This record gives sequence, C-alpha cells and structure tokens, in this order.
Amino acid sequence: MNFTHGNKVVLVGTGAVGSSYAYALMNQGICDELVLIDLNEEKAKGDVMDLDHGIVYAPSAMNITFGTYADCQDAAIVVICAGAAQKPGETRLDLVSKNVKIFESIVGSIMESGFNGIFLVATNPVDILAYATWKISGLPKERVIGSGTVLDSARFRYLLGVEFDTAPTSVHGYIIGEHGDSQLPVWSLANISGTPIAKKLSEKRKEEISIQVRDAAYKIIESKGATYYGIAMGLARITRAILRNENVVLPVGALLEGENGHSDVYIGIPSVINRTGIKKVVELTLNENEQEKLANSVRTLKGIQAQIWK
Ligand code: LAC
Repeated sequence: MNFTHGNKVVLVGTGAVGSSYAYALMNQGICDELVLIDLNEEKAKGDVMDLDHGIVYAPSAMNITFGTYADCQDAAIVVICAGAAQKPGETRLDLVSKNVKIFESIVGSIMESGFNGIFLVATNPVDILAYATWKISGLPKERVIGSGTVLDSARFRYLLGVEFDTAPTSVHGYIIGEHGDSQLPVWSLANISGTPIAKKLSEKRKEEISIQVRDAAYKIIESKGATYYGIAMGLARITRAILRNENVVLPVGALLEGENGHSDVYIGIPSVINRTGIKKVVELTLNENEQEKLANSVRTLKGIQAQIWK
C-alpha cells in the first residue's frame, strides 16, 4: 500500500521518552512535520517552542507544532509514548493495567480522527500495549509496530562491541521476545562479519552479558529515575525506516501469526520495515535452548493478555 501521508509524524506523550524522540527526529532530519500532543498542554507547548528554536541548526526544515488528536487524520505515523512510567524496582509488566486503560482512551481518540497510517508504540509494557493498540484500532497487524527489542538489541550489540573492541554497528545480534525479563539473546546467530561470536565466549561470560542487557533499564532507572535516550534513538531509527521505505531489518515488536511456532502475541523479532509498516517477520533459525526460551517469553506475555482480555 502506498501512503499519501507525506512525512507527518504525530507524537502522543511528551515526557522524557517522547521529548527525547522529538529531539532525535529534529537532529536527524527524519520528518518534515511533527505534531506534539500531551495532556500537560503547557509542557508540550514549551517543548514545541524549545525545539522550534533549534531548527535553524537542524539538517533540514521541520514544522513542529502543538496539536490535538484531530491532527492524526493525515499523519503517516502516530507514535505513542504516553502512559505511566516504570518506577524504581517496578517491572514493565507491573505497569500493564494502568496503561491499557490509558490506551483505550488514546487509541480510540486517534481512530476517531480518521487516522489510517502506522502506529509506533513505545509505552511499557510495550508488547502488551502494541497488542492492545492493534485490537483497539482494528488496523492490519503490519501497521501496528511496537518498539519491541530494538533497544535491547542495541544494548546487546553495544556490550559485544566493547567486549570485542569493535564498532557496535559491525556487531550483528538480536535480543528477541518480551521487552522485559523473559527476553532472550540469540547467541547462536550473533556474529562479527559473519564470524560466530558465541564460541569465543565462555558460558559464564555469555550469561553475564545477557543479564547486563536484561537489567540495563533497572540500573539506569535506579541511577537517573528513567531511561529515554536509547529508546528515543531506536524509535527514530524505526521512524526513518518507515518514512524512507528502507526495507531494513529491525527487531521491532511485531504480531506473530505462526512464525517460530507462535501466534496472537506481539514480541520483539527481526522484521523488514518499510513504508507499509512491517513488510514481513524474519523467521530465525533458533537452537533448542533458544526455542524453549522464546516459548517461555511468549507464555509470559500471553499470560498477561489472558488476564486483560478474558
Ligand atoms: C528501557 C525502557 C524503554 O528498556 O523499557 O530502557
């Protein structure tokens, strides 16, 4: 499907993640129109003014304004960062009931505008809220994308880059499953220039790195109260892939319909991203241990889904 929505992005929620994402979009010249929406109008209007004053130094022109849900009508992408934030010691899944209720209101209002573009969901627990957005909006699955494990995979690649003294952009590896405690690193496929990494690390070291990735958010939240720069960069990368019709593979949150033997669940999984949204989910060849961990992650998420959508 070819969209006629130009490059307009609407951001719902201008808290730390949303405003960092807006700043990333401007710095990278990813879109030419950005509308900010937030319940705290004053704060959002302040963000608009603050961002507008940086445009003169941005790589390209960008029309940044404050708006309402009516502005979603002709948007190419609506990005949702709104919701209650994770508190120190709180798991992403603890947030679920609060944020599902908030999403029923937000997504309903967006669809009332006549929105017919692509949702990009970042609010946690992102896999459950991407699933909620898909159910509430009624849009086809390819047009509801979660941030998935785009950040977890970036953390994984960064740590392996440090381990092997190599640029993380040259380290290829994925974290898949829940953006949360049941996520799993696909060690069997991690590589540098096609050379497998797993064999170069002890089981102990692999476990240490896996835990560092899994627990990164908790550590950052303990230190500074929230995480926002890393996820904002991941959201900007997904946005660029959509708007520029890149057909690039990114570990976003996608609805499985049989891939790797699972269905009716959003998880972080490598997917081909272009102007239509998720062009296709990439089926990974997982070893037995990875298949078991993925099944556990799916069970975790479906257990939450079953409580919400009884
Ligand atoms: C994190 C948040 C985005 O992992 O869940 O930093």
